[in-house]
Amino acid sequence: MKGLVLAGGSGTRLRPLTYTGAKQLVPVANRPVLFYVIDNLVHAGVTDIAVIISPETGGEIRRALGDGSAFGARLEYILQDRPAGLAHAVATARPFLEGSDFVMYLGDNLVGMKIQEAVEAFTADPSLAASVMLKEVPNPSSFGVAEVDAVGNVVGLVEKPREPKSNLALVGIYLFRPSIFDAIAQIKPSPRGELEITDAISKLIELGGTVKFTRLTSWWLDTGKKDDMLLANDTVLDDWLVSGVEGHVDGESKVSGRVRIGKGARIVRSVIRGPTIVGENVEIVDSKIGPFTAIGDGVRVIRSTVEHSVLMAESSITDIPRLEDSLLGKRVLVRPGPARHGALSLMVGDDCVVELSQP
Ligand code: TTP
Repeated sequence: MKGLVLAGGSGTRLRPLTYTGAKQLVPVANRPVLFYVIDNLVHAGVTDIAVIISPETGGEIRRALGDGSAFGARLEYILQDRPAGLAHAVATARPFLEGSDFVMYLGDNLVGMKIQEAVEAFTADPSLAASVMLKEVPNPSSFGVAEVDAVGNVVGLVEKPREPKSNLALVGIYLFRPSIFDAIAQIKPSPRGELEITDAISKLIELGGTVKFTRLTSWWLDTGKKDDMLLANDTVLDDWLVSGVEGHVDGESKVSGRVRIGKGARIVRSVIRGPTIVGENVEIVDSKIGPFTAIGDGVRVIRSTVEHSVLMAESSITDIPRLEDSLLGKRVLVRPGPARHGALSLMVGDDCVVELSQP
């Protein structure tokens, strides 16, 4: 069984963060989403993995994952020249996948469940053409939706249907055999101009293939938007964070609950409430941090309170009485301006959102 991780695409939904970086590398509890994806594959015994990359963000994806040895995997990179759809990405990887069954895993999807059982069940039943993972959602129209019959077969799939036939959304993890290439060869681009994986699987069914599904019982987070990102952080901090202090916490500080503090971090006269992760070389002085907060490497927080937020690497917060529910990119500065007639002075890039409390 091989692995195919999709880390190309254009990532328009998480702007502005994805103007300057790949959305698969956006950190959740200080680790890129993509790292959890590779971990889950390796845990299931899938170590021979190709990563689909785009011309825009391929370089940084490669630098982050390297040759895969840090994860116990062997990684290869395949360039997809344009984001022409999930099925197009699979077709692009054909030379790597040829002759092998494979797991396709979307590089921006985070699930709370290990995929090992689903992989083993698929391997054990050669009568299956494919297997998909489904999760009940309240708003199926925003997803690929599956129609299933009474005996547990998938009978049809539609991408973002206006009138969904079920509330079962396709999670971004699929199991295929080489037969998927014949199906892809017989589909045409959708109205939005992409070769859709939902159409390819529907074609597989039309050609007589049996497609089963696994129901995802854990959480599933698509880290596309700010609120989803914060929720992803909450969930991962809550479920997976292991406490540990490697940095220095002075005698006047208090750390409570599950808190991880990275190497070289300095906590001075501050309170850190878990679950919270503090990265390496962070400086926190006269501040209150947490709960549910991820502080990236090299961040400085001085005389401020930060709760339920994500501050990415090298940002700096000074003299801010309360910062809540916030997602800050890298090297962001937040500080009071000079005391002039209560005016705001902002320098904010494209597509940013600034929400100020009412006076
Ligand atoms: P999507 O979220 O479907 O697409 P996108 O990345 O273009 O994002 P947005 O809607 O925010 O503009 O992609 C799911 C995953 O698959 C994501 O990790 C990107 C990847 N992908 C590819 O590798 N190739 C493709 O052609 C497409 C469409 C997506």
